[in-house]
Amino acid sequence: MKTVAIAIDGPAGAGKSTIARAIAAKLGYIYVDTGALYRAVGYAVSAAGGDWRDEATVVASLPHIEVSLKHVDGVQRVFVNGEDVSDRIRTPEMSMAASAVSALPPVREFLFHLQQDMAAKNNVVMDGRDIGTVVLPHAEVKIFLSASAEARAERRRLELLEKGQDVPFEDVLADMKKRDYDDSHRAIAPLRQAEDAVAVDTTDLTLQESIDYMLKLVEEKLA
Ligand code: DC
Repeated sequence: MKTVAIAIDGPAGAGKSTIARAIAAKLGYIYVDTGALYRAVGYAVSAAGGDWRDEATVVASLPHIEVSLKHVDGVQRVFVNGEDVSDRIRTPEMSMAASAVSALPPVREFLFHLQQDMAAKNNVVMDGRDIGTVVLPHAEVKIFLSASAEARAERRRLELLEKGQDVPFEDVLADMKKRDYDDSHRAIAPLRQAEDAVAVDTTDLTLQESIDYMLKLVEEKLA
């Protein structure tokens, strides 16, 4: 079966996951959140007592890490060695850990096949940083989603607050800017817009407006 792939890349907090999930639900595709895979690797290293900042430790841990995805009612759950870590990977520390481990070529290689395999077997909406450029260069639709750093930091702050984590705006903004810089300046698969991607800026759009706009765009592209 020929499968269809929609690649959505962009910096943290641009609304990728919420929008990708909505598009996947509408089209009956599987939503793959690839950031969760990098978070899972960071989590696995730290759960085993290792330091995710230490390159040698991370690389040595890889053979002992099994990351897998399951979809329950269209919702992605992430497992590390059989343990459901979906909620535990959503902390500011795991955001930094994911960004750090994602700069290491062996980690990217480790997750590359898992991502390609998901897209080979399913119609997917996949979001991340390098989906349109590296993982699925032949995706039928590519979108590069962004918004100002301030708008993205405020959205992330509200998300964390909803989970009971009250983090000051300035701290969220500083983390966001550091991650933006690190993700776009790393040597391997840096965050950048694919040449054939459509750029969408969500700074002045509500979530619903962003979803409606993107759905229209995707439907036009797939028509
Ligand atoms: O989307 P997110 O915030 O969950 O991503 C966490 C980190 O993982 C992000 O800082 C960069 C990295 N990442 C990546 O390098 N490539 C991807 N395809 C997805 C995420």
